[in-house]
Amino acid sequence: KKYEIGLIGLSVMGQNLTLNIARNHSIAVYNRTKSKIRNFMENKVQNQNVKATYELEEFVSSLKKPRKIMLMIKAGKPVDLVIDSLLPYLEEDDIIIDGGNSHFEDTNRRLKNLNEKGIRYLGVGISGGEYGALHGPSIMPGGNENAYAEVSDIMENAAASTEKGACVSYLGPRSAGHYVKMIHNGIEYGIMEVLAEIYDYMRKVMQLKPVEMGNIFAKWNQEFDSYLVEITAKIMQKDDPKTGRKLIDLILDKAKHKGTGKWSVQSALDLGTAIPTINAGVNARLMSAIKTERVENSAQFASSSRPVVNKEELLPLLKSALYFASVIAYAEGFKLLKTASNEYEYNLNYKEIARIWEDGCIIRSGHLEPIQAAFAEDMQLNSLITARQFKSQLNAAADKIDKLITTAAQAGVPLTAIHSALDYFNSLKAEELPANLIQAQRDFFGAHTYQRRDQEGTFHTEWE
Ligand code: 6PG
Repeated sequence: KKYEIGLIGLSVMGQNLTLNIARNHSIAVYNRTKSKIRNFMENKVQNQNVKATYELEEFVSSLKKPRKIMLMIKAGKPVDLVIDSLLPYLEEDDIIIDGGNSHFEDTNRRLKNLNEKGIRYLGVGISGGEYGALHGPSIMPGGNENAYAEVSDIMENAAASTEKGACVSYLGPRSAGHYVKMIHNGIEYGIMEVLAEIYDYMRKVMQLKPVEMGNIFAKWNQEFDSYLVEITAKIMQKDDPKTGRKLIDLILDKAKHKGTGKWSVQSALDLGTAIPTINAGVNARLMSAIKTERVENSAQFASSSRPVVNKEELLPLLKSALYFASVIAYAEGFKLLKTASNEYEYNLNYKEIARIWEDGCIIRSGHLEPIQAAFAEDMQLNSLITARQFKSQLNAAADKIDKLITTAAQAGVPLTAIHSALDYFNSLKAEELPANLIQAQRDFFGAHTYQRRDQEGTFHTEWE
């Protein structure tokens, strides 16, 4: 018997995706550490559709041609090593599918090298964590389109689905899939930080306890229907079995990151597009990491006074801030996707991207429905902020954020992502920005020249 697809890399994501795929298709698996394969087969697999293989050659020869090989391994060097080790066994038209969080430029390079050898390649973003991998993730494939056609049924069966269809769609050539997944993660960083800032404000300025916050987040989420809000509400309620205290109070305020958020910001800078709310999410993790320094510093500064606040008055403002800054994070992400699509000729379909993000992935939320509607009305929309679906709501919410920012500043609580979102909105709708002064300064000290409002051409002034 030959198997429809093969999967290399039995980490939890790889295992769960295998079990998911095996519900509808036959699948052969391989892992470098052999004990993991045995463990998986003995403890997790109850399905005839899964075949364990213990040598690469055996793995490849157990697959139907053209072979479809999915890699679920750590991004970076390991992907290159596995591809190299596979090559001697592959034939023309075989398909390698990278399902990890690879950097999009690595995907471009791998696709080019493999295509030159006649091997087809797909760079596929997969979102939804361990649960999603098992029960239906959002899948973002890009690369050789004719290769996608051969695996589309497997992907559609594995993906989450809504009444609009499976949460998977061929997104574009080369690294389009991994680029879109990177931006998905950038938006994820932004919204996570917005929630973290609201939590910080609630505990430090309003003196709320986790249970109260959990109830508030849960109530708001009846409206937002956002996975990240939902898990935040649940986190607030969780007890530590050992101490009986709330677990959130015992978790260290120091967050790691694996790169996709940073790459989003790097790419945005390379493409000359600002994504300040997403950037704030990345920066906040960097600030969190220097815990020892922060603790030392805090001893040198008197603690800020706590402003007098009214809970009933503030909660609606916080809810508005959550709405506003979350939508802005999506707006920044989609604007960057548009820039990248033009620059890299991905020919992205933004409505379709919003559709496949509607379930399975980490940033799934009720906002994705109006985002689809906005792009359905105007696929070339420059920014979601001007879309009929968002314009007046954003405007109304922006008006409410001032008070939060003032009171947070009084209390010494950073609201970087929320503040960045507001500034992004204000910049994007500003007829006049102060860059006339920047031009003048550049020309003053460096003779960099400037342009004028009243005349065409390039000017320089002897300023002194
Ligand atoms: C997803 C997530 C996932 C991500 C991790 C951690 O969509 O399922 O985005 O792919 O890699 O959640 O990312 P960080 O370690 O960078 O926070």
